[in-house]
Amino acid sequence: MLCGGEFFTFNVGMMSDPYHSIHEMRCCVKGKNADGFGYSSTANEIAAGLGKRLDGKLVIVTGASSGVGKHAARAFYETGATVIMACRNEAKARDTMKWIESSASAPKGKGKLVFVQIDLSSLESVKSFANAIMEMTEPLAVLMCNAGIMTTPFTLTGDGFESQFQINYLSHYYLTMLLVEKLKANPDGARLVNISSISAAWVPFPACCGGSCSRLCGFGPVDFSGGGAWPAKSGACCSYEPMDSYAYSKAAQVIFGSELDRRVFAGTKVIALSVEPGSNPTTSIHKNGRGSMCLQFMFSYTCLPCLLKVFCIHKEMDVMASSGVYAALSDNAQRGDYFRNNLKYKTRGPAGDPKHGPPLWDFSAKCVQSKVPGEVPNADAPPVQNMLRK
Ligand SMILES: NC(=O)c1ccc[n+]([C@@H]2O[C@H](COP(=O)([O-])OP(=O)(O)OC[C@H]3O[C@@H](n4cnc5c(N)ncnc54)[C@H](OP(=O)(O)O)[C@@H]3O)[C@@H](O)[C@H]2O)c1
Repeated sequence: MLCGGEFFTFNVGMMSDPYHSIHEMRCCVKGKNADGFGYSSTANEIAAGLGKRLDGKLVIVTGASSGVGKHAARAFYETGATVIMACRNEAKARDTMKWIESSASAPKGKGKLVFVQIDLSSLESVKSFANAIMEMTEPLAVLMCNAGIMTTPFTLTGDGFESQFQINYLSHYYLTMLLVEKLKANPDGARLVNISSISAAWVPFPACCGGSCSRLCGFGPVDFSGGGAWPAKSGACCSYEPMDSYAYSKAAQVIFGSELDRRVFAGTKVIALSVEPGSNPTTSIHKNGRGSMCLQFMFSYTCLPCLLKVFCIHKEMDVMASSGVYAALSDNAQRGDYFRNNLKYKTRGPAGDPKHGPPLWDFSAKCVQSKVPGEVPNADAPPVQNMLRK
């Protein structure tokens, strides 16, 4: 049967939170945010409409070579910022830079595009990238953690971590920690923007292996301490479900951003924000994943595109990039905000529960310290006590 496991898990995830999946994603999302932007606003419209100028300031976009990152980078370029194209593939990044330069209008003045290599499957590469940024004299205004992979078969990175865990979450954690002081040093304030996913609300994902095992296996109790089933340590049946691992990594981004905000950014001009971009099955993130055949089938060859449009899940890429750009640029974005459709939403599930912050914080530092010599800056910042769920 055509990737029945993925089809099943996708739909179970949708069904597990019907309010979230249908009510808020359907076309009745007509609200506008405080700046007048909503569901269908594009990244460029937001950059132009807000009119914020970042001339002479750095904006880092990981995974700027394609998809959401590419469109966000173009919008930032139009603000006059020096956009750091944080990509692993130089040729692809340079092609994207040409596209941005030729397609940007920037009536008020373009920025600069600078390629700096980063491979998020290597913590050493993350450290080298951060060192290069620390040497730059311009203030850092925005760090957008966007690069990612999705539903990949079980593989380990060179550092020995499950790939989705490291590329989507751990390397972004390390990159952020290495750049915290540069973010704080910007006298005009700065933003950390984590590009998450609707799947963050699906943890724990009711999983079905879709392989040799055809029964429901689940992924155990929700645990971000590293002591439970996440991150997966083997690809054996019932120990690794690609969508579950993806969902955990996207939830971890949100949990970490909130914990960092409480521990380190409180009282500063830096705020951490998270974003759910929507869905566009044409990006390479879908083609690379194990769920790709299923998702391509669902999105391309059936009537599902119509349904997706009805539920307002599917978006064009410049719209996909908009909420991240809005979070990075709007004066109305506030500490801890979570954006979808350019509107503020309550973070659902474990991603919105501060109790997961401290175990994830400790576990992440331990993972990095086990591979890279030296301290993780600010990892010893104490937890904030008596946090209530937002
Ligand atoms: N598209 C969707 O439907 C959707 C839905 C929800 C959330 N998101 C989120 O949106 C973000 C962007 O996704 P997208 O749809 O724009 O996908 P995309 O077009 O595949 O872009 C992903 C980017 O990540 C980069 N990347 C992957 N592995 C990397 C590594 N090891 N080191 C450095 N960069 C790496 C890719 O670089 P290469 O070009 O070199 O591969 C690419 O630039 C992701 O965080 C994803 O989880 C997407």
